[in-house]
Amino acid sequence: MTFTGTIEFKGTKEQEEKLYAVINKHKGTQGALIPILHEAQEIYGYLPIEVQKIIADELGMSLTEVYGVVTFYAQFSLYPKGEYAIGVCLGTACYVKGSGDILEAIKKQLNVEVGKCTDDGRFSLEATRCIGACGLAPVITVNDEVYGKLVADDVPGILAKYIA
Ligand code: FES
Repeated sequence: MTFTGTIEFKGTKEQEEKLYAVINKHKGTQGALIPILHEAQEIYGYLPIEVQKIIADELGMSLTEVYGVVTFYAQFSLYPKGEYAIGVCLGTACYVKGSGDILEAIKKQLNVEVGKCTDDGRFSLEATRCIGACGLAPVITVNDEVYGKLVADDVPGILAKYIA
């Protein structure tokens, strides 16, 4: 089995200590895996394979089982957020106004897939639900900035600000 997750792991000793504390807190309780994964993601920002391996070993599970759970639930991420986290709203109002085209334009320009991060760690891309700005549909966010009433041709201009 191939485990996806090619970003270099840069976990610290402190993070590892916190992770073991979390595991020990839940170990032995029914359904310990999910809360451990949630807290591990809070510690690291995502769930690197190295972290999943520690959790699997400590819970006496295989990495395949842990990986299966991580990849099943959308709230768990195998990738860190980029320096610039891009969110494209695929809520109904945005979708009917063409946010799918905007998503494709971003994927193509940055060569990044949804839920992943560019190899240099600068950009990550998420498809989001409605962010409550339907009046501006279609909407994307880059970190805390919101861009609305977009067409796919606006994408290069927006990204240029961050690429520069
Ligand atoms: S559907 Fe996109 S902001 Fe509401």
